[in-house]
Amino acid sequence: MPVIEVSDLAREYTNGAGSTKVLNGVSLVVHAGDMVAIMGPSGSGKSTLLSILGLLLAPTGGCYRMNGQDMLSLGRSGQSAFRRHSVGFVFQKCNLVETATVYENLEFPLIYAGVRRRDRPPRIREALARVNLLHRMDYAASLLSGGEQQRAAIARALVNHPSVVLADEPTGQLDRRNGQLIMEHLVRLAAEGETAVVIVTHDPEVAAFCHRGYVLDDGVLSEAPVAT
Ligand SMILES: Nc1ncnc2c1ncn2[C@@H]1O[C@H](COP(=O)(O)OP(=O)(O)O)[C@@H](O)[C@H]1O
Ligand SMILES: [Mg+2]
Repeated sequence: MPVIEVSDLAREYTNGAGSTKVLNGVSLVVHAGDMVAIMGPSGSGKSTLLSILGLLLAPTGGCYRMNGQDMLSLGRSGQSAFRRHSVGFVFQKCNLVETATVYENLEFPLIYAGVRRRDRPPRIREALARVNLLHRMDYAASLLSGGEQQRAAIARALVNHPSVVLADEPTGQLDRRNGQLIMEHLVRLAAEGETAVVIVTHDPEVAAFCHRGYVLDDGVLSEAPVAT
């Protein structure tokens, strides 16, 4: 059963100037263990698509099933429960709480997901160990380097063992070496086979880490080769 199955997805934005169709019939299937790149020019709707996949934004048309369950008939609270348990986000800017420690930043999603206090430390340690960041556990997030902050953001996305990790330009603010390190962590995650990874990027070097690539243009998603 696919983790993500969207068909004929549409999204319009309406404002004073009229309405714009940003997504116009997008279909995509992603399985656990898949690592998929979504490319396309700026303004083509990549972040809009990712927000819909992450249940942060409702589509104006189409179908969306996650793990076989219809997401669009769930209602707001059902969707946020699904989001807390099944989706991990990594953004271009890592959005850590800078005054909190790395440990606390990873504890927040566990609290929201209702994980009991005594079950949290092993989960947090496991996630930090995956990105080689255990030694920074008690640092304030503001004291980490850019690369370390983004690794902490990945650990935070993984701490709930989500079905899918959605990453929007995850290497956009990093130098090449730190960007590659981030991609290697995501590759390893997908290779374990439990998690689907969807990455928005306009960097061909980032897309080359992925198994499949798509281009979003004119509201339509089409398959595109990723360089190897
Ligand atoms: N909340 C919004 N209201 C109106 N238009 C929006 C909104 N969010 C995004 N858009 C428009 O939708 C288009 C796609 O945006 P976005 O999904 O952010 O593209 P990308 O991530 O590919 O750069 C852009 O033209 C943008 O201006
Ligand atoms: Mg964007």
